[in-house]
Amino acid sequence: MAEIIDGKKVAEDVLATVKNASEALTAKGVTPGLAVIIVGEDPASQVYVASKSKKANECGFKSVQHTLPAETSQADLVKLIDELNADSTIHGILVQLPLPDHIDSGAIIQAIAPEKDVDGFTFANVGKLGTGEVNTAFVPCTPAGSMLLIERVRGSDLSGLNAVVVGRSNIVGKPMANLLLAANCTVTVAHSRTKDLPALCRSADIVVAAVGRPEMVKGDWIKEGATVIDVGINRIPAPEKGEGKSRLVGDVDFEGASKNAGAITPVPGGVGPMTIAMLMANTLVSASRVAG
Ligand code: GUN
Repeated sequence: MAEIIDGKKVAEDVLATVKNASEALTAKGVTPGLAVIIVGEDPASQVYVASKSKKANECGFKSVQHTLPAETSQADLVKLIDELNADSTIHGILVQLPLPDHIDSGAIIQAIAPEKDVDGFTFANVGKLGTGEVNTAFVPCTPAGSMLLIERVRGSDLSGLNAVVVGRSNIVGKPMANLLLAANCTVTVAHSRTKDLPALCRSADIVVAAVGRPEMVKGDWIKEGATVIDVGINRIPAPEKGEGKSRLVGDVDFEGASKNAGAITPVPGGVGPMTIAMLMANTLVSASRVAG
């Protein structure tokens, strides 16, 4: 049976290190500051944003949350970002996605100053990651956290391993592929048009699933001993009759995959906690750069 990768524990370790470093920076006169912006009332986004603000406080950061109505104009949102770009007490700016349809998300992301782009979504940071400048880029938090979990179980030398990333989003799939490539893996990015996904996954030493489709990756797609990182968080509604409750599942059939995998992340408690921890780590790095 597979080792179950305890993302919650690894995230707690990261957060403890960030908190210590944050206190040391504060003693030097620079308190890391994180601004989180949410537009509208998407319930999942509200939960994520509340936990980001809470964790920032726990790390000893200055934590500012801007909660804007759904009808906020694009111009007003850009104005707020410009103010935060110019605010020397703020080192990280995060605009929670998705944004309402009338706002051009791409334009909003690019309005964030790259040196405060702790999500790693601006062209400057995407470009650095794509050219292998992994150490100076802000790397998107979910892939950065996933990478840390992979290194925990496989060690830091991933050279020559076959990695399959299922999903090609800008937030997870593409940056994940770039991180694995920078670590000398042989990387394939699979997506909805990929032919024979099961066979492709069976060739992989590392499978990262980030498609947002409940339990899509089946147990018999996993090679013996492979590392399986499940980025999906899907809520399955409660059955209409009976006692059952709604439940969270990943993009991988956990029970089936656990029989073949060497190590696997659970949902919840795997990649999820790592995302927030890496956001705090990125904000700390940003503040450290300012402090010199
Ligand atoms: N929505 C879902 N994931 C993310 C993320 O990592 N960052 C932001 N800003 N929004 C998200």
